[in-house]
Amino acid sequence: MELLSKIATNDGHGENSAFFDGWKAYDSDPYHPTNNPNGVIQMGLAENQLSFDLVQEWVKKNPKASICTSDGSNGFKDIAIFQDYHGLPEFRNAVARFMEKVRGNRVRFDPARIVMSGGATGAQETLAFCLADPGDALLVPAPYYPGNDRDLTWRTGIQLLPVICHSSNDFKITRQALETAYKKAQDSNIKVKGLLLNNPSNPLGTVLDRDTLTESLKFTNDKKIHLICDEIYSATVFARPNFISIAEILQENADCDRDLIHIVYSLSKDLGFPGFRVGIIYSYNDSVVNCARKMSSFGLVSTQTQHLIASMLSDDVFVDRFLSESAKRLGQRHKILSRGLSQVGIGSLKSNAGLYCWMDLRRLLKGPTFESEIELWRMIINDVKINVSPGASFHCSEPGWFRVCFANMDDETVMVALNRIHKFVIQTKGSSSDGINRKQYGRSKLEISLSFRRLDEIMMAPHKMSPHSPMSSPLVRART
Ligand SMILES: Cc1ncc(COP(=O)(O)O)c(C=O)c1O
Repeated sequence: MELLSKIATNDGHGENSAFFDGWKAYDSDPYHPTNNPNGVIQMGLAENQLSFDLVQEWVKKNPKASICTSDGSNGFKDIAIFQDYHGLPEFRNAVARFMEKVRGNRVRFDPARIVMSGGATGAQETLAFCLADPGDALLVPAPYYPGNDRDLTWRTGIQLLPVICHSSNDFKITRQALETAYKKAQDSNIKVKGLLLNNPSNPLGTVLDRDTLTESLKFTNDKKIHLICDEIYSATVFARPNFISIAEILQENADCDRDLIHIVYSLSKDLGFPGFRVGIIYSYNDSVVNCARKMSSFGLVSTQTQHLIASMLSDDVFVDRFLSESAKRLGQRHKILSRGLSQVGIGSLKSNAGLYCWMDLRRLLKGPTFESEIELWRMIINDVKINVSPGASFHCSEPGWFRVCFANMDDETVMVALNRIHKFVIQTKGSSSDGINRKQYGRSKLEISLSFRRLDEIMMAPHKMSPHSPMSSPLVRART
């Protein structure tokens, strides 16, 4: 007899994937500018740390918002004993207004529909429990966030079925791809209960356009299945086209069944507070709101956090400044990374959101296989000492794509990372034409004269080429 449950002994957490392996490599040898300058640089973590000075400034100016300061301690008892699963009314109001603001005030959110959860992680699982039974499936356009596998399937017993998207049309979600995935499930006698979209996308860093959202809404409505939109990166959009929420599309398609629409949100990315575990389920379905609220007892947001967030998000001046400054800084960082990559012939998907670039290393693969992708990835971890995440861990159907995060480090660390990448590519430039010659890279003592100053100059200089264009690269020239 098994001592433990199936959940306790299966691999549903997904900790054995390459996505998490990279984190382990970083953990055992983390880069530090002085203590460990040859350590691994963590570029596998989608965290938004670029605007913390603004938050810190606000916290200092608003001591009453924290119950552990002399100004705020009067509220300590009330906050400490409050444990209602509806949450503080001021928290729900502030979050609803914040979500509206991020969507350009083009939609309204009813605070009574805001349900708390432990991050988007908890929100996804709660929704899965509400919408599907073990064995049922959700369709998810791939590539998709690896955590979905854990969050939606591990404890619920549901399954995720990929909707295969291709680089040939920039991984666009088409009606045909949706229909194909749906039919495949039907042919296998799997009941599809919904479609999960992530807008803006992790790992692509792109926003879904109006047509794609409308088509997805029509598709789910036609099939009478749910549409879940994970909009956790909504305020990370730093360039046009603007973010369009499913809430807007719903407004424009009043004949659609609102009971099928659910939004997942969190403050982990837009504000950069993953440690606070503020997750939100916003459902247009009354029964889902009721059930999810009861289930939220398993993952409430601490009242202390709600109290702080309520004050912070009610400060319009702060929120407006934070949103515009954060987007500006993300845009600048994205430009530095994508330009730095394109300088050595590394292209990336044209993107305008998120905390990462979707980097195209297909030309560096020994062959068009996932084995080659993993081989290249190991080389990047072990030799270049950078943790990026391989496309396979995002269920990407084409080998050779990697996600590189850029907002979880300071400017100097980005420069070190880019310098290492430049060195790597330049050293491997002369290697065999069918991929990277590992031995040569490992053996070479060649010192690259690409100083920080020079790299700075390269990346700050106005470019004639698009930052996404690899054509100016010596690597590409050598290969074409
Ligand atoms: C698309 C997506 N959804 C959900 C999550 C989970 O976020 P949270 O920290 O709020 O649980 C992440 C985190 O990386 C994510 O990228």
